[in-house]
Amino acid sequence: MKLLVPSSSTTSLPPSAFLLPPLPHGYPFQGSFNLSNKERRRSCIRKAGPIEITARFELKPPPYPLNALEPIMSQETLEYHWGKHHRAYVENLNKQIAETDLEGKSLEDIITISYNKGDILPTFNNAAQAWNHDFFWESIKPGGGGKPSGDLLKLIERDFGSLERFIDELKTAAATQFGSGWAWLAYKESRLDVGNAVNPLASEEDKKLVVVKSPNAVNPLVWGYYPLLTIDVWEHAYYLDYQNRRPDYISVFIDKLVSWEAVSSRLEKAKVLIATKEKEDERKKRDEEQFATGEAKTEIYPDVDADGNVE
Ligand SMILES: [Fe+2]
Repeated sequence: MKLLVPSSSTTSLPPSAFLLPPLPHGYPFQGSFNLSNKERRRSCIRKAGPIEITARFELKPPPYPLNALEPIMSQETLEYHWGKHHRAYVENLNKQIAETDLEGKSLEDIITISYNKGDILPTFNNAAQAWNHDFFWESIKPGGGGKPSGDLLKLIERDFGSLERFIDELKTAAATQFGSGWAWLAYKESRLDVGNAVNPLASEEDKKLVVVKSPNAVNPLVWGYYPLLTIDVWEHAYYLDYQNRRPDYISVFIDKLVSWEAVSSRLEKAKVLIATKEKEDERKKRDEEQFATGEAKTEIYPDVDADGNVE
């Protein structure tokens, strides 16, 4: 990844000036489960002269060299996929949000705002593709594959019946996504999204793993799910290495590339976020009930004159 370097006519601010505020608690995809707030830092440039600050998203590199996934995924594929396609999404996003209400918002906020409950706004595709590809590169690793373990494996067996059934379902979703898109493993915490309704706490049965597929740039964040793993099934992800043999790409992706450690880590973070959000929801509900029944504690401040005497 190349940092966006201020031009000679610009003046850099100290790095501390560019830290984004933490994402709000309970945000369904806070941290995207693998990006710290530090990593979410954007390159900001203050132009010389009148104060003008612009914030730009950076192209983040895969966490390994571009030839590290060979022979399963060639360096040439990564040079095109990351170096050109992913780069274009980030650069186009920066152009689209410049001097709009979206400038300065987190990538996740831009995704949900521009998804617009399915009535997709122009910015959505570049924003979601930028996020999806960061997530994709960190879903895999050199020497990946093998089997999941621990709580992740237990949940897979609970929600799909067996590891083999889960793998079959994931492969089917990836193979049958018509045209460009993505296949996902996600942790689902359903929330009722109805006007004038209060979102209920998710029931235990809602907290489960699901396999979903999505067209084009759509990802599970827009449904309030917690993504854990993704397979990019756009042709640019596999055509140089596998031509039209998408099922072969999917099989070797799962067998040799998936970082189950990353998936497990994302699951644990999702659980923590959900638990935190539930506590906050309970607290708010309690406060509202106390307010409604008049039980809320009211602090009374007596009037005091200039000499400190209570009137
Ligand atoms: Fe891609």
